[in-house]
Amino acid sequence: MSILVTGGAGYIGSVTVEALRVSGEDVVVLDDLSAGHRKAISPDVAFYEGDTGDAEILRKITSEHGVTQMIHFAAFTSVPESVGEPLKYFGNNTGKVVKMIDTLRGGGLKNIVFSSTAAVYGEPQSPAIDEGHPKNPCNPYGLSKYFVERILDWVNSACGITHVALRYFNASGALTKGKLSDGSLMLGEDHHPEGHIIPLVLQAALGQRKSVSIFGTDYPTPDGTCVRDYVHVLDLADAHIKALRYLGDGGESQKINLGNGRGFSVREVIETAREITGRDITAIFGARRAGDPSTLVAAHKKALAVLGWEPKYTSLGDIIQTAWDWHKNYPDGY
Ligand SMILES: NC(=O)c1ccc[n+]([C@@H]2O[C@H](COP(=O)([O-])OP(=O)(O)OC[C@H]3O[C@@H](n4cnc5c(N)ncnc54)[C@H](O)[C@@H]3O)[C@@H](O)[C@H]2O)c1
Repeated sequence: MSILVTGGAGYIGSVTVEALRVSGEDVVVLDDLSAGHRKAISPDVAFYEGDTGDAEILRKITSEHGVTQMIHFAAFTSVPESVGEPLKYFGNNTGKVVKMIDTLRGGGLKNIVFSSTAAVYGEPQSPAIDEGHPKNPCNPYGLSKYFVERILDWVNSACGITHVALRYFNASGALTKGKLSDGSLMLGEDHHPEGHIIPLVLQAALGQRKSVSIFGTDYPTPDGTCVRDYVHVLDLADAHIKALRYLGDGGESQKINLGNGRGFSVREVIETAREITGRDITAIFGARRAGDPSTLVAAHKKALAVLGWEPKYTSLGDIIQTAWDWHKNYPDGY
């Protein structure tokens, strides 16, 4: 039996696949490479290039490997793009999932770990967000994920397929050498276009962009810039493995936040990156951006209570150091 990982050639998926491989699990990856990278997957891992909406390739994977557990990372991930092209997001992130589960349940699928997002909560109503916070996604991306969460609830009650929906805050950092016992791959963030603050800041440090923009300096935060929760990608990988084991042991379906539990401001990110890289990073201060809440931080006690998961790489220095090691080694990406 293999664990199917969709979107396993992407940023978080590839690190999780490597962590599974190193811990001795049998893994099979399905990715259409629309945003992923073949080089991000060890040659020892079975890889199928294809679409999650393609029933034929899913049946082939099931018959060749046997799939009772899966992690579903595959999705389009840009909030601004989702606002301009909502149907693209509902089609890929929601519609294809319906067909995918319907196909895989015929092959014996029992458990799903699903990549959800803090974007299901929408505008925060408290400084630290726990799982009971109202769900009012304010963009098609967040809604496309929330739809899947609700679909998974009905699939659970009707078909007995259990799930853990993991709501990540800001994934960050990289897998660098020596972090996994026998891992030799270095894996990091390589998105085109890049929309996440830490890689953007590091691209500025590398001279690949002239500056980084800070949107808003008058928020009610200690230094006036937005505060976000950055969770290291290796901690995310660990949580996925724990979620698979929890479901495999008969655990019931859950929605669980994955965050650092601490917030860091945009200004702190830039300052820490300047210290770690020793490079000049020009910041341009601009007006607030519509729809950016001032503070988004996870309450993550449920992950500890249910999965026994706690983040290990919680300092901003650790997060940025690993990301910098990756960007220095792969300045042009994979
Ligand atoms: N990066 C973050 O901070 C963050 C935060 C919250 C949630 N998430 C979620 O985590 C997951 C992974 O995010 P990421 O940052 O690694 O993104 P990514 O773009 O690096 O990875 C997504 C992968 O899915 C693949 N893919 C997309 N649609 C597909 C399809 N129909 N069939 C097959 N493959 C397909 C892409 O080629 C890519 O390799 C996504 O579901 C995303 O919504 C990410």
